[in-house]
Amino acid sequence: MSLLVFGKTGQLALELQRLAPDATYLGRDQADQTNPDACAALIRKLNPDAVINAAAWTDVDGAETQEDAATRVNAETPGALAKACAELGIPLVHVSTDYVFDGTGEKLWKPSDPTGPQNAYGRSKLKGEQAIAASGAVHAIIRTSWVVSAHGKNFVKTMLALGATRDKLTIVADQHGAPTPARDLAALCVRAIEVLKTEPNKAGTYHFAGQPDTTWAGFAREIFAQAGLKTTVEDVSTSAFPRPAKRPANSRLDCTATEAAFGIKRPDWRKGLADILKELPK
Ligand SMILES: NC(=O)c1ccc[n+]([C@@H]2O[C@H](COP(=O)([O-])OP(=O)(O)OC[C@H]3O[C@@H](n4cnc5c(N)ncnc54)[C@H](OP(=O)(O)O)[C@@H]3O)[C@@H](O)[C@H]2O)c1
Repeated sequence: MSLLVFGKTGQLALELQRLAPDATYLGRDQADQTNPDACAALIRKLNPDAVINAAAWTDVDGAETQEDAATRVNAETPGALAKACAELGIPLVHVSTDYVFDGTGEKLWKPSDPTGPQNAYGRSKLKGEQAIAASGAVHAIIRTSWVVSAHGKNFVKTMLALGATRDKLTIVADQHGAPTPARDLAALCVRAIEVLKTEPNKAGTYHFAGQPDTTWAGFAREIFAQAGLKTTVEDVSTSAFPRPAKRPANSRLDCTATEAAFGIKRPDWRKGLADILKELPK
């Protein structure tokens, strides 16, 4: 099967490259996602058997002041990719976010729950979901949260850098969700493509996050424990760290439909964290 992946340098794209080294990966230099038509034209030209979109505007705070640009990348381009996939009759796997929800309550969000993004990034990602759903393509939209890996910028690497020089850190303890190792997310994306090829009736929107649910403070404590750092963590509320984009308090995702459709359970993120720490230079 010839697989075409948009994205080459991000956390998810790099993990996909380990799992599916024979796929074609298009970075920003070959497929600039600020140009929806050019990206869609590449699908028509390369004529693959399936497409994964692993690229996105992920600067959550930056999207607040550049919502049009974020929407172009996170909504217009995914919509154009999906239309090209529909024309060719091939499946598309696209990744979205817990930030499409308003973050209220304490229940795990189901894919069918009402959305209500609280920031520009979430709005742009939701518009992308809607454009894909309207395209007629056989698709899986996988909403995920707190993606981490040994590459790029993420919470694990930030905590390790801070923990190396600080005895104590104050970390937000009133945002609830779960870290998701990019490696496990990549495995789900590949599996979803395989399943959609033979079972297009499984097209739809799915959730995927690691387990157990925690808070950023809980995640930080586990990072320091596994890394052998003595840094202590003091719980603080979100209001102690004002950011341009509002963050949802409840990002817990119900992933039962994903397990039923694709046979992949929520992975234990503590095991994924151990793998990341092994991979990072000491
Ligand atoms: N990271 C998280 O915590 C998180 C949480 C929830 C959902 N998600 C979703 O998960 C997916 C994967 O995220 P990730 O963590 O792998 O993101 P990432 O590491 O930030 O990578 C984003 C990728 O998108 C590319 N990109 C950005 N703008 C582009 C453009 N105009 N043209 C072409 N490529 C462009 C980047 O390329 P450059 O390297 O050239 O900039 C980079 O390769 C995304 O859909 C994201 O929205 C992520």
